[in-house]
Amino acid sequence: MKKWMYAAAGALCLALLVAFMRIGPYGVARLFAWLGRGSDFLYALEDYQRAADEADFTPGAQWRDTQGNLIQAHGGQVQRMPVPDGVGGKKEQYVWIGEDKSNGHFGNCFAVYTSDDLYTWEYHGDALRSIESRKQLAEDDYFAELYASCTEEELDEIYRCINVGTVMERPKMLYCEATDRYVIWFHSDDATEANPSYNYDVGMAGVAVSDSPFGPFRFLRRQRLSRCPKGEIDCYPSSKGEARDMNLFRDADGTGYIVYTSENNKTLYISKLSEDYTGLCAEPESAVAGRDFVRLFPGAMREAPVLAHGDDGRYYLMSSSTTGWMSNQARVWSADSIFGEWQNDGNPCVGESANVTFDTQSTCLFQAPNGQWIYFGDRWNPTDLADSRYVWLPASFKGGRLTISWAERWRWDAP
Ligand code: DGJ
Repeated sequence: MKKWMYAAAGALCLALLVAFMRIGPYGVARLFAWLGRGSDFLYALEDYQRAADEADFTPGAQWRDTQGNLIQAHGGQVQRMPVPDGVGGKKEQYVWIGEDKSNGHFGNCFAVYTSDDLYTWEYHGDALRSIESRKQLAEDDYFAELYASCTEEELDEIYRCINVGTVMERPKMLYCEATDRYVIWFHSDDATEANPSYNYDVGMAGVAVSDSPFGPFRFLRRQRLSRCPKGEIDCYPSSKGEARDMNLFRDADGTGYIVYTSENNKTLYISKLSEDYTGLCAEPESAVAGRDFVRLFPGAMREAPVLAHGDDGRYYLMSSSTTGWMSNQARVWSADSIFGEWQNDGNPCVGESANVTFDTQSTCLFQAPNGQWIYFGDRWNPTDLADSRYVWLPASFKGGRLTISWAERWRWDAP
């Protein structure tokens, strides 16, 4: 072989090496697939590389589950909780519940995903399904079995509350150890005869229950919640006990709370739940302010509430303003106890776009296995709600303040 041939072969090898390093094994696999020479090995390599690529948080990017489908869990909640282990027992996993917006704004089913590492999510289907037609309750085995014990009147009511034309938003779940059952609360809404063009006039909280976090969840009812105490000025006296955007919170002693916007989105409330989490601890008519519920920040116009217990021992209540799908400035209040004095701590976000919560609306604050706090916000896309994005960012409760900062790409377990 001539010298120039060695040089040419060397240059070719070098070029191939550089090309391989630039496009990586994933790119090589794609190239082979494109050339029609894809093999199982190369496709496996492709899967591996895709998984590796996604093993971080890229706030605002599309996020796919382990089957390659876009995750549909908007307005959601992530928490570590006991789940069935498949052999009759339970194991701890992260569970993500949220609105499946595949069909757009209304009648959202609630999808559930699980994960061990918070990066890769396995889809478990829709845990609570909305109903397409009244007939479906009798003709579709799924619903017929779930509501077998209901009367026709009860079925009418179930259909009225969770049909595909209703508002079904911001589902949150709690596991009740005492009953070994899972309970979902969500914003259940619709137009009324008095106000047929406004889909948020019913203003209620829906409740559903199941033996498994994966469902099927059985819808129990929807209801109004706590009312403005006597002696205080109700910001919307014509419609008492409204409940729209909401969240759940389980305190260290196991007490459950529902936190929600009321009085036509003007005032936040936190109400204590019953021991089985399927109702309030006291009926709205007889509930006592400061014992059973607390009415907060009258007229402040806050929604998308999130309640968390910081590692500094304080309680933090974060929320957004009320601008529909558009992002706005977040605000956080903190207190030593849930029914105590709440102090306005201002905007928890720092850095560029902090004035619009990094173009998100709050839905959850939770901890990674190493204790790292994570802020979860929705970046709504009103023209294609199913392609709304998730923004997960590092958060901390240092120095008595909640701080959330932007990160382009990050890992909770980065060294
Ligand atoms: C803001 C709420 O936070 C969302 O859940 C949703 O109800 C939109 N408004 C609808 O405009």
